Amino acid sequence: MDTQTTQASAAPPVIRREDYKAPLWQVPQIALEFDLDPAATLVKARLTVTRAGSHDRPLRLDGDGLTPRAVSVDGKALSAGDWRMDDGVLIIALPGDDHVVETEVEIVPASNTQLMGLYASGGLLCTQCEPEGFRRITFFPDRPDVLSRYDVTMRADKAAYPVLLANGDPIEQGDLADGRHRARWVDPFPKPSYLFAMVAGNLACNADSFTTMSGREVKLGIWVAENDLPRTGHAMKALKDSMAWDERTYGREYDLDVFNIVAVADFNFGAMENKGLNIFNSRYVLADPETATDPDYDAIESVVAHEYFHNWSGDRVTCRDWFQLSLKEGFTVYRDQSFSADMGSPAVKRIEDVRVLRAAQFQEDAGPLAHPIRPESYMEISNFYTATVYNKGAEVIRMMALLLGPERFRKGTDLYFARHDGQAVTCEDFVKAMEDGGDIDLSQFRLWYSQAGTPRVTVRPSYDPESGALTLAMRQTIPATPGQDVKQPMAIPVKFALFDPATGEKHDGEEVLLLTEAQMETRREGFAQAPVLSINRGFAAPVIIEAEQSAQDLAFLAAHDDDPFSRYEAMQQLMIHALLGSIAGGPLDSAAVIDSIRGTIADAALDRSFVAEAVRLPSEAYLGDQMQVVDPDAIHAARDALQREIGVALQKEWRAIHAECARNGFSLSADARAARKLRGVALNYIVASDAEDGPALAFDQFDRADNMTERQAALAILASGASGERAQALAAFYDRYAGNALVVDKWFQTQALSLHPDVVEMVEALGQHPDFTLSNPNRARALYAAFAANQWGFNSKDGKGYRMVADAIIALDKLNPQTAARLVPPLGRWRRFDDERGAMMKAELERIAATPNLSKDVLEQATKSLA
Ligand code: ARG
Ligand code: ZN
Repeated sequence: MDTQTTQASAAPPVIRREDYKAPLWQVPQIALEFDLDPAATLVKARLTVTRAGSHDRPLRLDGDGLTPRAVSVDGKALSAGDWRMDDGVLIIALPGDDHVVETEVEIVPASNTQLMGLYASGGLLCTQCEPEGFRRITFFPDRPDVLSRYDVTMRADKAAYPVLLANGDPIEQGDLADGRHRARWVDPFPKPSYLFAMVAGNLACNADSFTTMSGREVKLGIWVAENDLPRTGHAMKALKDSMAWDERTYGREYDLDVFNIVAVADFNFGAMENKGLNIFNSRYVLADPETATDPDYDAIESVVAHEYFHNWSGDRVTCRDWFQLSLKEGFTVYRDQSFSADMGSPAVKRIEDVRVLRAAQFQEDAGPLAHPIRPESYMEISNFYTATVYNKGAEVIRMMALLLGPERFRKGTDLYFARHDGQAVTCEDFVKAMEDGGDIDLSQFRLWYSQAGTPRVTVRPSYDPESGALTLAMRQTIPATPGQDVKQPMAIPVKFALFDPATGEKHDGEEVLLLTEAQMETRREGFAQAPVLSINRGFAAPVIIEAEQSAQDLAFLAAHDDDPFSRYEAMQQLMIHALLGSIAGGPLDSAAVIDSIRGTIADAALDRSFVAEAVRLPSEAYLGDQMQVVDPDAIHAARDALQREIGVALQKEWRAIHAECARNGFSLSADARAARKLRGVALNYIVASDAEDGPALAFDQFDRADNMTERQAALAILASGASGERAQALAAFYDRYAGNALVVDKWFQTQALSLHPDVVEMVEALGQHPDFTLSNPNRARALYAAFAANQWGFNSKDGKGYRMVADAIIALDKLNPQTAARLVPPLGRWRRFDDERGAMMKAELERIAATPNLSKDVLEQATKSLA
């Protein structure tokens, strides 16, 4: 068959933001009854429906893979002619304005490999509904602007499923015949269907409580498999800290009597904010020092906070339609980032967040899948849970917070919550609340919601010795993105400071200037000599700065800038200059880099965690982003060489750090964690220096570690080398942790990320390992998403890496389209590489797009990536 015609006829419809229409029917109440069984679950739904406005349109209930077994209206069974099915949607003509509609379906959780709707994971039955999974459970207007009160009754075998959880408060429970039991949960807060959740299983509970600001006691529960209970303490602490922080910072109090978190092993994303019953990927719940790294601890803290914060920014105030996703996600990411900053080091948190933004979002914004934080159209909304909607969305909120200042920002959020509590609203509603509550005009600022692409801001300082004046000439350009050829100038906060190079002092503090035109100039006076410019301090705006700064200026800032982000950035720029110079064929000029690193590690006033960030080389991928055409081999060689030179030149320093950091016993204190991080960086430089005892030193750290942070750091270093210790460490690690899925994931991921010349073959072999499976998303990502992020390995010249990832996408699409679609974007970067690589990547995308019966998830990503 001609594949092109197959696709043309099967092309899924495009949904457009401008086509939004309010719902024709509302469902103020829904009662659900589940007879749970993995092989056949009976679902009875009783919907109280009311006509919205005056119209004569039928009731349309979304369904996906459902067949009605019975349909009744106001207690009377309908016969087959009274309803019809149209592409999964159940359509019922109703005579009056208020009716009770009942349906009955049977679903099979055990064969739900998409992990959307009701599915089985381990011995559990659990749900994931956002964005459109509820329609795989029962017929319903599955859109976020239909808000209902839920009354849920669950019945299940008591031995297999002793614990039955759903949203809201537990109302009653009891035993039934045949060893079954039941539980009823009622959620008093109206909510959209995507926030529905239910879990049944044999779970143990870490039970605790929290007293809210108004003195109400909330029962907290973290539910996991019995043997995982000892690993839930950190998540519980994070939950209580989050609850207190949201009261303090936003005046938001929790509103139900119980708050439950459940950990599941098979989960498409990080976690889900279902009302009163958050469901988590177990990797964001379980931690102890033996199995989790310090970054794992941080990720748990931030994801627990994120989902908890959604109770207000997402659940109490939700989205009108999915184009508004950033309304809840951008704001909630901003909230969780602020929380983590408050709990630890704000400087290091900002550096980490910017690193993620640049790695994921800037790449997305520069490629074929670029979209505004409020997209205009989609084929499959699951493809829009992106770094743009989440992370750039958070940056947009951060800029508003900067422009308003803390008090007025808080007035804005207070107004937003007060005005829209219980509603499904838009990004525009949020901005309006900021304007009204914060007393500001955000007209031009709104372009951040509609224009895609990372703005480039060129800043050219010129100093006139005669008048002692400095002129800053600024210019902004926003690159064309798919569907948006012409852009308007945006409102960009430019945060800068000027330093006196002689004294190292700052002139007149720092300033925030709003760049609103394509070009602007500003003049400052009174400088005896040319000041040094520190620009985009704190990374105040998510833009690419082009400022031609001399190596002296960068070295000055790397030593003196009092804004930690800018200080870090100056070091990164120094390293990038050296590396790009050598990639372009010049000598590798490492002297300035080495001097700055020496100065930084010697500066006792600096937090060691910051030092670890500052002295680390930029990733190969980030270096690629700085090039017109990415040359993965040249980047790898240059970075390797610089690493070696830094290792050799500062050998004594690295040895001292490595030895000193080893002295203290294990603790989770900030100091101990910072020391572990810096120790890992030091070990990396020691091994990179080709010191003969390097691998043995790494193996010793690996072998003697009493925590996963140090063990895993040493393993990663060994995995990227060719020493005899490599195989030994990998085998020992596997033996030690076989059976612990989250740690075995690390074993796969560490190898997939390794900078080893044979990484392609190794990943290929790991795909055949008995522990490998595509059906567990964590495992699939540990191997293939990690490998696709390994610039050197994935882009190996022979194209084997591309083929392997494409094969994985095609195979995984049959099981789990959402997770498969997430592997497509790395292939979509074909324009960034040389012609040969580009052609091979394109060919793989074409092969994917031509695969029969492709999901719309993968089809959308592959066809857009080719365009
Ligand atoms: N709302 C969830 C969160 O941000 C993510 C849900 C993602 N689900 C999906 N199917 N894309 O925490
Ligand atoms: Zn979220």
